[in-house]
Amino acid sequence: MAWETLPMALDLDPGTAATGNAQLVRAIVDEMDGGAISFQRFMELALYHPEFGYYRKAGRVGKQGDFLTSPTVHPMFGWAVAAWCHAVWEAMGRPSPFHVIEPGAGSGALATAILDWADGRQDGFARAIRYIALEPNAPGRDPRVAWAEPPLQPVATGVVVTNELFDAFPVRLFDATPRGPVEVLVRWDGRQFVETPGGVADIADAPRDGRFEVNPGAYPVMRSLCQLVERGALLVFDYGYAQEELWAPWRITGTLLCFYRHTAHENPYIHVGEQDMTAHVNFSELLAAVQDEGLAPFGPARQSDFLYALGLRSLVEAARADMAEYFVRRRGLEQLTDGTGLGRIRVLAATKAIDFIPPGFEAL
Ligand SMILES: C[S@@+](CC[C@H](N)C(=O)[O-])C[C@H]1O[C@@H](n2cnc3c(N)ncnc32)[C@H](O)[C@@H]1O
Repeated sequence: MAWETLPMALDLDPGTAATGNAQLVRAIVDEMDGGAISFQRFMELALYHPEFGYYRKAGRVGKQGDFLTSPTVHPMFGWAVAAWCHAVWEAMGRPSPFHVIEPGAGSGALATAILDWADGRQDGFARAIRYIALEPNAPGRDPRVAWAEPPLQPVATGVVVTNELFDAFPVRLFDATPRGPVEVLVRWDGRQFVETPGGVADIADAPRDGRFEVNPGAYPVMRSLCQLVERGALLVFDYGYAQEELWAPWRITGTLLCFYRHTAHENPYIHVGEQDMTAHVNFSELLAAVQDEGLAPFGPARQSDFLYALGLRSLVEAARADMAEYFVRRRGLEQLTDGTGLGRIRVLAATKAIDFIPPGFEAL
């Protein structure tokens, strides 16, 4: 008997898996219940759904993940931040304990670098440090770090440090129209997520053209961070601009970006739950929060200027005897100060109940 080969067309359509994490897509569609949800809620579910959200899984940040952050480029970044904290500690008369509190610590790369730097010195700083990390999603494992749950009680002395915390908060999206800013909602059309217009909002000084974001968590969270230390300082690293620049008339597509396997793009409705989503921070709001809490603000400065002012170049030169490490550090410095990448990050500091200009801000 001769076998006949008949072409057999299988149905290869992966259904909701084509849109991202199939279980997450299903959960979002279920919550929509045939209607629409705000973009802010969509972003919250995509990043932080209790079971399937992007940040629930470890390994999202770093070379093996989807995007780099400064602490994952090279420990040099954390060493510089450690030296900054050390300067605050000295200015305060070397108190012990001295808390370093890091909300949004992720895998703990910054914590590890700061604690290693302190352990590498013999001046009592390591003994004084109590490192508290807050990470509601996949936390790190460094045993020297206390991984705490909110709410935290304020500590007497210390520093609060954040890196790319605020730019990971879910944002409201708006399209400017002659009627005012119209909120972007998201619905499921049976095959994919699509946008649909919501109500008109009243937003002071809102752009008159194009798309823009509002980050409702930024101001209240910044205020609460200011309350975490009774005496000490804050150091915040994040992508963003002052409001005039963030909402400048020429910026008509907003700042929302997605990162999937180290490729940046602007479509939040693909790779849902498998890609990062981020929007630039309104530094005018962070500054207002600092001032409303009565702290003395410094900056914001560009990360590149800040790191050069701290003397990061000297850490590269210090490795000259070890050429492999020298080139790793040289590349690290280039990445951390790259004016089109991490070097664009803004650095905002604030001091509380200490009279001191923190390192990196003297020239401002
Ligand atoms: C862009 S990642 C940065 C991680 C780390 N700081 C780094 O630089 O590699 C943002 C982190 O903030 C955390 N996060 C988001 N909202 C948070 C909140 N309200 N409190 C504390 N952490 C939060 C996320 O889970 C995530 O780990």
